[in-house]
Amino acid sequence: MRVVFLIILTSYGAFGRNRTFPPGFLFGVAQSAFQVEGAWNIDGKKDSIWDHFVHENRSRILNRDTADVACDSYHLYREDVKLAAAIGMKMYRFSISWPRVLPDGTSKTINKKALRFYEHLVHEIRHHGMVPVATLYHWDLPQALMDAGVDWTNPKVVDHFVDYARIVIKRLHHVGYWVTVNEPHTFCREGYGVGVFAPGIRSSGRDEYKCIYMMMMAHATVYRMYKNEFPRHEGKMSMALDIQWFQPKNASSAADIAATRRTADFDTGLYAHPVFLGGWPPEAERRIAERSRRANLTKSRLPAFSPVEIALINGTFDFFGVNMYTGYLVENLPEFPHNVSSYEADVHSQLSFSPNWTLETGYFAFTPNAPLHILRYVKETYNNPEILILEIGSSDDGSTLYDELRIRLFHNYFNSILDAIYDYDVNVSGLNIWSILDNFEWASGYALHFGLYYVDMDDPHRTRYPKMSTEFVNQMTRLNRV
Ligand code: NOJ
Repeated sequence: MRVVFLIILTSYGAFGRNRTFPPGFLFGVAQSAFQVEGAWNIDGKKDSIWDHFVHENRSRILNRDTADVACDSYHLYREDVKLAAAIGMKMYRFSISWPRVLPDGTSKTINKKALRFYEHLVHEIRHHGMVPVATLYHWDLPQALMDAGVDWTNPKVVDHFVDYARIVIKRLHHVGYWVTVNEPHTFCREGYGVGVFAPGIRSSGRDEYKCIYMMMMAHATVYRMYKNEFPRHEGKMSMALDIQWFQPKNASSAADIAATRRTADFDTGLYAHPVFLGGWPPEAERRIAERSRRANLTKSRLPAFSPVEIALINGTFDFFGVNMYTGYLVENLPEFPHNVSSYEADVHSQLSFSPNWTLETGYFAFTPNAPLHILRYVKETYNNPEILILEIGSSDDGSTLYDELRIRLFHNYFNSILDAIYDYDVNVSGLNIWSILDNFEWASGYALHFGLYYVDMDDPHRTRYPKMSTEFVNQMTRLNRV
């Protein structure tokens, strides 16, 4: 099989160009606890908001899938780590399940078995010569906290998150990169605005802003705690922000150009500005305040930061963590009536894919050269930070191991990263492919396949099978070029 893959790959002209990745550039793979671990109620773990969301109403997830077993990585993690190392990976990104470590959400009950599990995982990753990249929050809040009213709209969540983070960090000494929160944009929008992700709240432009505020506070407070209490730990810390490349649908329309800027301000700025520049992005802050005032509210729906909070959050990064998948065309929409309050109404733009970007069956379109645009945008907007790509990848329907579309996307995206590095001097230190395995893709269940390895969810052993892209990536890491 490997030989067949190789012959096909050579016929594509893959690895034809002679540009290598810079010395020290790290290739890695990524996954998250809820999406791969399974073992949802094993060894003391209790529900996360995602367990609850899935079990409470099975029709929320495509094909009524659950993540109860998922890839069973709780039991098979050694194999996963080995599979990553076997294709030349030097980084391994995973997340820690908060309700596995603290089943009741608080530090009153610490699950020793869970801490031992993550300690073994980190050890295994190091043992295979890879750098562990650990995410503290990849969307699985303990349901016990939610039941007690302590969710991402309640300021108390910040202290609980810090307690949890301290317990984990104290135990895991050899993490190379810490990620506090993963994609606050997706989590807050889908979980508190659109309501299709846990905790499934539709709040009309209120709770999603509170959620963003709490996540910024939680991130920053953990960062400050880490620097104060663990001065001897060498791991760098930041957040993972999902960034898309936005371009006006009609390049000569002033309205579309303004809508594009506005969209970036909301979808990236609300998350990156507080950390990398300080405070909310002024245009988004002004718009939300203005629309709140016109709706006769006494306060803006976007919680205000005090000067102390602005200072607390500003500068809490050692690198810029980016998840990148796609781009969008942006079209201006007319202003919504003032009494309509929602994130969408505040942004009033319409996103779409270009008909030229057709290759992919998931919810992202393959947007040629998206990484170059995103990386340049981050460099230019946020003062040229070290950028670590925490996720990059593509999905298909899993119908074939000859995943040609994924390879075409990888070929273009990885060359585009090299363009950013060599032509625009962007400081990119590595990339993590999402994902090592086909896994539980949230509300899409197992219908979307992002993995380098195929996993058959009907197979009780959850055997992992290499795809053609596995071999592509293997060649890329060996030759250090695409
Ligand atoms: C973003 C998320 O971090 C991850 O959980 C998800 O599976 C991938 N992107 C693909 O959608």
